[in-house]
Amino acid sequence: MRVLGIETSCDETAVAVVEDGRHVRSNLIASQEHLHEKFGGVVPEVASRAHLENINPLITEALVEAGMWVAEVDAVAVTVGPGLVGALLVGIACAKAVAMALGVPFVGVNHLEGHIYANVLEHGPIEEPFVSFIVSGGHTMLVHVPEPHVYELLGQTLDDAAGEAFDKVARFIGLGFPGGPELDRLARTGDPHAVRFPRAAADRGYDFSLSGLKTAVVRHVKAERARGHEVSPDDLAASFQEAVVEVQVDKTIAAAKDKGVGMIVLGGGVVANTRLRELMASRAGAEGFEVLIPPPELCTDNAAMIACAGYYRLVEGERTPLEVSASPGLQLA
Ligand SMILES: Nc1ncnc2c1ncn2[C@@H]1O[C@H](COP(=O)(O)OP(=O)(O)OP(=O)(O)O)[C@@H](O)[C@H]1O
Ligand SMILES: [Mg+2]
Repeated sequence: MRVLGIETSCDETAVAVVEDGRHVRSNLIASQEHLHEKFGGVVPEVASRAHLENINPLITEALVEAGMWVAEVDAVAVTVGPGLVGALLVGIACAKAVAMALGVPFVGVNHLEGHIYANVLEHGPIEEPFVSFIVSGGHTMLVHVPEPHVYELLGQTLDDAAGEAFDKVARFIGLGFPGGPELDRLARTGDPHAVRFPRAAADRGYDFSLSGLKTAVVRHVKAERARGHEVSPDDLAASFQEAVVEVQVDKTIAAAKDKGVGMIVLGGGVVANTRLRELMASRAGAEGFEVLIPPPELCTDNAAMIACAGYYRLVEGERTPLEVSASPGLQLA
């Protein structure tokens, strides 16, 4: 089954063709980062307009790259939430139009489930039960997945999502937007033990909090400057990153032990972070867990993960009525 996947929940217009939930025939992204950079964040109206301009040519390109006629599409999967309402609506309208014109099945996909299914594209079908750590621009959450499509929320962020915190700290040290990837690069030449930042919300069960850490970074820089000291951006980036990642790894492993599962599955844009990948693989691996991590390009938003997640719902017979609309606040659990 060849599924056309469409993803427009935030600032990436993405279209993919995935065969049988595993083989990526094409996976294209028209990034709008340059449009939002001067605002230091995503502007919803700008995102919607750019999706409108990008989506049709991108669908054509994705089909050409997959070597297919549009009539060879067997089903359409689209992100219906969570995300920006105007942005989601562009992808949904387009997906409905294609499904209706071709008379093929149509399914709405939860973007966060898509982040989990990015793993299937790389590692093949995943067997439940497992604990998943989803960490992205808008989310930080630990979920227990006892069986297919059942999500039990264990904990989430009480304030900033990790990606958001990475972006804010990156901006504070003068990096571009989104700053997460650049901060990651900078941290590679820094000393993670240069500054001992607080391990935030260590006592809050499976919940996370990053606003205090963010403030600690700003305070540290101001205090050092007041003393006439130069702050090394590399050390700052590495120390901040270590403080974020250590707590994430600790809590994920604790949750997996607590739930008695043997597998940990990561998903979301921040999973592209080098240190998170490294520390989770080594620490959880040493504790005997199997750890699934998508390749970096499938961690950040893409439509292949949506086509894949959609495929698994379609083969179970699930269909979404064409009346469906965007669900900006759609929950996973
Ligand atoms: N290497 C990296 N290190 C740290 N953060 C990163 C890295 N690569 C990407 N990010 C961060 O990941 C976020 C983007 O993730 P993703 O594409 O999943 O976000 P989103 O779709 O906007 O959010 P959500 O999935 O919650 O709706 C950004 O905040 C970005 O800075
Ligand atoms: Mg995302």
